[in-house]
Amino acid sequence: VTVYVPRDSTALALGANEVAAAITAEAHKRGQSIKLVRNGSRGMFWLEPLVEVATAAGRVAYGPVAPEDVAGLFDAGLLQGGQHALHLGLTEEIAFLKNQERLTFARVGIIDPLSLEDYLAHEGYVGLKNALAKTPEAIVQEMIASGLRGRGGAAFPTGIKWQTVLRAQSAQKYVVCNADEGDSGTFSDRMIMEDDPFTLIEGMTIAGVAVGATEGYIYVRSEYPHSIATLEQAIAIAHAQGYLGDDILGSGKSFRLEVRKGAGAYICGEETAMLESLEGKRGVVRAKPPLPAIEGLFGKPTVINNLISLASVPVILARGADFYKNFGVGRSHGTLPFQLAGNIRQGGLVEKAFGLTLRQLLEDFGGGSASGRPIRAVQMGGPLGAYLPQSQFDTPLDYEAFAAIGAMIGHGGLVAFDDSVDMARQARYAMQFCAVESCGKCTPCRIGSTRGVEVIDKIIANDDRAQQIHLLKSLCDTMVNGSLCAMGGMTPFPVLSALNHFPEDFGAPSEQAA
Ligand code: NAI
Ligand code: SF4
Repeated sequence: VTVYVPRDSTALALGANEVAAAITAEAHKRGQSIKLVRNGSRGMFWLEPLVEVATAAGRVAYGPVAPEDVAGLFDAGLLQGGQHALHLGLTEEIAFLKNQERLTFARVGIIDPLSLEDYLAHEGYVGLKNALAKTPEAIVQEMIASGLRGRGGAAFPTGIKWQTVLRAQSAQKYVVCNADEGDSGTFSDRMIMEDDPFTLIEGMTIAGVAVGATEGYIYVRSEYPHSIATLEQAIAIAHAQGYLGDDILGSGKSFRLEVRKGAGAYICGEETAMLESLEGKRGVVRAKPPLPAIEGLFGKPTVINNLISLASVPVILARGADFYKNFGVGRSHGTLPFQLAGNIRQGGLVEKAFGLTLRQLLEDFGGGSASGRPIRAVQMGGPLGAYLPQSQFDTPLDYEAFAAIGAMIGHGGLVAFDDSVDMARQARYAMQFCAVESCGKCTPCRIGSTRGVEVIDKIIANDDRAQQIHLLKSLCDTMVNGSLCAMGGMTPFPVLSALNHFPEDFGAPSEQAA
């Protein structure tokens, strides 16, 4: 009997190793033979550690399982999928999972992350094989036709970026994966690295073949030690089996991959600061142009994509651009792995086509707040994203619809707050985050964020409030228009959205500035 206990960081943090050890010991004690597979997480974090058992009807889930539950589970017939208080039925029938559209995350939680055999048995490397049969131009055209837009947050068309690199003349080009997943409430990059690393390796290999790059780097934040370890093992396996290295699958093409560890600065997720860091320098933003696609790593043409963009490439090449493009709405094609965090009952990962509303994510998937109180605000798109009030919860998750209300989908992470939140303090937090994480290269961000914290403190202390609100708006205007990168340029979005949508927390109604 095959029993699955996740090895994903979230499950480990909740005691998955102890549960796995208890299951092995209990089976041994009872003389029952089991095959224990350490799979990835299904992304239903409130049920972790989620134990699954393979039965003739499909995988049956139990969760959240503690080591002290294990003996009772065996008594109840765990290995036959027997009834128990923690029995959740067939995993695939759990509504949170059943109502998703998993393309990029199709294998996550199902396979053993480090089994290349498992990967191949689940449509793995079909995309690369198809790509190797095409010309580089045809691969790039497939990517353009798929409508995939950058999943790091800026939503620039991935295929167009690849085309720029393909057309750049250079003997050396690079592919860089941005896995410096720094946004609050986000973990989709981490889950791919830990739970299905070959998808990323395959996506990067296809990118290399498409643009003519033979070297790739994965820039991972140091806070992700399990991701780094899993990637390094997966790269070694892919290399040993001929999926990386010289002459990939007998095609005559070469592609090598290396992992690089960041040191924990938010700004190193900005693409040019990341290049500086990769080159061994301090992570300071470079002015653009030149675009990294023309002059990137070590001055060479470089594809820099967010991890989720690259991990979405294999399914596009395996199933075709039309298949992918048909998911979504308007100009937001395909699916996005949304990440539910903060004060939410059912936190976790929801991969879904664009077009559902924020309310559907919060209520149908998230099940409302964890505290049971009304959700008052949601921050979408990381620490630089706007705070959305209830009146905007029916906005469809679509890049253009979000831009129209001054918000952004970003990397797909949302953080929910109930009605006990103080939005003036959240505004202060956003400014202070910028003051702490600013790379210091330009004045509006470096100085402006520190002055911004002081101004918000005066507003909170009701010290000349009307004048200070006026000053805050003027400062934000300078930061939006005068900053070199999104750090200083977007910090005003959470600050001003808090002020505009929740004026009562800033001493309004009488003193709010409209
Ligand atoms: P951007 O709009 O300047 O650029 C987007 C991408 O397109 C870049 O890679 C750029 O080099 C590329 N590009 C633009 N024109 C091109 C052309 N003609 N050919 C080839 N490539 C071209 O946005 P930026 O400053 O890179 O990113 C800002 C975004 O980052 C924000 O919107 C925010 O959503 C997101 N963000 C994400 C975070 C995360 O943790 N994932 C954290 C902070 C911000
Ligand atoms: Fe650096 Fe801030 Fe200027 Fe960006 S906006 S370049 S983080 S100082």
